[in-house]
Amino acid sequence: MCGIIGVVGSSDTLATLLEGLARLEYRGYDSAGIALVRPGETWRARIASGTESVQALKVECELAPSGFASGIGHTRWATHGAPEAINAHPHLDCSGNIAIIHNGIIENHTELQEQLESRGHLFNSLTDSEVLAHLIEESRAKGLELMEAVRESLLLVRGAFAVAAMDATEADVIVAARRISPLIVGTAPGVTYLASDIPAILDRATAFYAVNDDEIVRLGPEGFRAIDLEGSPVRLHQLSIDWDLETAEKGGHEDFMSKEINEQPEAIRATLLDRRRKDGTITFDEMRISDEELREVKRVVIVAAGTSHHAGQVAKYAIERWAKVGVDVDISSEYRYRDPIVEVGTLVIGVSQSGETIDTIQAIREAKRRGARVVGVSNIVGSSLARESDAVIYTRAGLEVSVASTKAFVAQVAALEVLALRLAQLRETLPPHDVDALFKGLNHVAKQVGRALERRAHVEDVAKQLLGSRDFFFIGRHVGFPTSLEGALKLKELSYLHAEGYPAGELKHGPLALIEPGVVVVAVTTDLFLHEKMLSNLAEVKARGATVVAVATDDDETIDALADYVLRVPATEPLFTPMVDVVPLQIFAYAMAKGLGRNVDRPRNLAKTVTVE
Ligand code: G6P
Repeated sequence: MCGIIGVVGSSDTLATLLEGLARLEYRGYDSAGIALVRPGETWRARIASGTESVQALKVECELAPSGFASGIGHTRWATHGAPEAINAHPHLDCSGNIAIIHNGIIENHTELQEQLESRGHLFNSLTDSEVLAHLIEESRAKGLELMEAVRESLLLVRGAFAVAAMDATEADVIVAARRISPLIVGTAPGVTYLASDIPAILDRATAFYAVNDDEIVRLGPEGFRAIDLEGSPVRLHQLSIDWDLETAEKGGHEDFMSKEINEQPEAIRATLLDRRRKDGTITFDEMRISDEELREVKRVVIVAAGTSHHAGQVAKYAIERWAKVGVDVDISSEYRYRDPIVEVGTLVIGVSQSGETIDTIQAIREAKRRGARVVGVSNIVGSSLARESDAVIYTRAGLEVSVASTKAFVAQVAALEVLALRLAQLRETLPPHDVDALFKGLNHVAKQVGRALERRAHVEDVAKQLLGSRDFFFIGRHVGFPTSLEGALKLKELSYLHAEGYPAGELKHGPLALIEPGVVVVAVTTDLFLHEKMLSNLAEVKARGATVVAVATDDDETIDALADYVLRVPATEPLFTPMVDVVPLQIFAYAMAKGLGRNVDRPRNLAKTVTVE
């Protein structure tokens, strides 16, 4: 996983690359580098400076010579080879003329490197990527043009790649290609760009195109042309983008996370917009599955990772309750390798903010191979998940930059509940007036999330008082359980504190042994179905000396006797509560992390979009 960018024909090459890399940092940031290329000359700068690598690269580039119209840049999340400057991209061939950047993993790199070394190539890094530079070098030595050389080289590699190559002996050309790892191309008069994703070139390109797997693109100042791995011409699909740059910036907030937490009411509203036709039918964004097929669904399998997996777990309760069909929720990295059973009537739902998480993409591919129909729930229009699904519901949360997901979660729950209602509508498992009432209720959630956000100061105050704590258990029942998982995930990824999410009923089967004074139990107690049982679980931890923080509804008078701190939220229909209850948990994690001096937008060791297995 890494971010890549390239430009040809620009009068502003260096700034384009550096600004783009800063916007791609969410894909990795342990080292960064650029190469500028003009006839007969390649200038390269690389730096490994932890989370500040792109910033450090900017300083390094103050020494860059001017007059380069083309270049490529890379921000890295290390897979093969430590996060050191020597392993940072771009990598060069033996002549120093060819520069490459790569996102992905070349699985047969050891074998390729051995062969290349036996033919006299010298390697300078410990990466899997460097083989690409030397393979291209060999093809160029045969007299092939850069595009052909890249094509020939890629025929030899196994694995995943978004790769871009330049050669000082064929300057003003970049050749890029993709398999699995994301890649887009952008154009503006006289300038052509490539990037891992759109924000990197949002303010510079005027048209955007998606590159598909096994497609190779030749970029020149005049535009681009594309071929497949066999060499036949292909047309790239143009994307319609309605973001402005402001969406990609912090909008006056201290950090992206704070901005994104605040954007949640809007994320839910936008996701629900125009979902119902005049006749009451609920619609998706893209639909290539017939109503008949949806009606006949026998089993639903949700595949997702991280926060998206928690949204999927919430959806299980909604789909089973409203649409009366059994749901399994799978971690996408487990699904694919488990020899999953896909019977006739299996509907697989892939949930992914980025739509590029490799485990989720591979899981839906496996499901399709086995005959499942696939619905994708993604925040990115034209993402791999969206393109490869039979139907798509977009979460319209807007660009999410902070590595830890917040607004995407509430938008995913909203989108998945829309899907649950559509299934209930088709299967007639809920009377039309119940579907109506639930849909209206769902539209009301944005307001309740807004009211939960207004209590930010109180949550921050509670966090301040618990700053010395080191162990946290988040517990809940019913949909309060996935909400607890999400609360625990937010706290651990942002603050690096030990936090676990547990179904409250499971406490007595193990975790209770760990409860003692100093341990904090954060309980989601808003689920009206099982409120009394939650109170008993709280009494159990309280009796063993835990400090109790409860997320409770405004009208809950029972909670004060059991909880040391109460985080109040407005009451809502039980299946909607995760969208509201997660708000104080996000703010709590944010405030704890800030109190401990963490970088909330870029937690250590993590990246926003995980495009390696
Ligand atoms: C990474 C991010 C998480 C995210 C997960 C799944 O781990 O740090 O915030 O939930 O990937 O990402 P996706 O784009 O598939 O939702």
